[in-house]
Amino acid sequence: MKESKFLTDIKTLRERARKELNQGAVTPGYRADRNTVIKILNEALATEIICVLRYKRHFCMASGINAQSVAQEFLQHANEEQVHADQIAQRIVQLGGEPDFSPEGLAGRSHSEYVEGDNLIDMIKEDLVAERIAIDSYREMINYLNTDDPTTRRMLEGILAMEEEHADDLVSLLEEMGSKK
Ligand SMILES: [Fe+2]
Ligand SMILES: [Fe+2]
Repeated sequence: MKESKFLTDIKTLRERARKELNQGAVTPGYRADRNTVIKILNEALATEIICVLRYKRHFCMASGINAQSVAQEFLQHANEEQVHADQIAQRIVQLGGEPDFSPEGLAGRSHSEYVEGDNLIDMIKEDLVAERIAIDSYREMINYLNTDDPTTRRMLEGILAMEEEHADDLVSLLEEMGSKK
């Protein structure tokens, strides 16, 4: 069989794997710039935490004004953003970094904003704005990673798909409430 020039030979592969064992999942073949990846993942982590906080606030406020179906949607989104935050934090650790959960500077690290909103429509609109920011920033991260870190990329693609669903849910809520924009 002709040897493919795209594949590393078995001997080299085995030798390389024995070096720098403390790096765990990060092997010498890792092609992305690890520090940059950890930095952008920490920004994504801050974004998700801000989204959890904003959705939780909206959930509580909507419950208070007896808008149960909207409140349930907010709660579901809050829980899903929490899952994203956990996934991202775990990936940062896997890459040898430290997840930044510090409340100090959290809003500044986040791409999306924490806006409380004065009424139900405002809350939904602010959540939609935040989702649209997240959608664009995840898309950029995915493009940046390209084929250099397929695992992080796949994780971000999964999150992006869910943010798109969230945005879609919020547009439907606005339509149901008779407010298109
Ligand atoms: Fe999210
Ligand atoms: Fe979302």
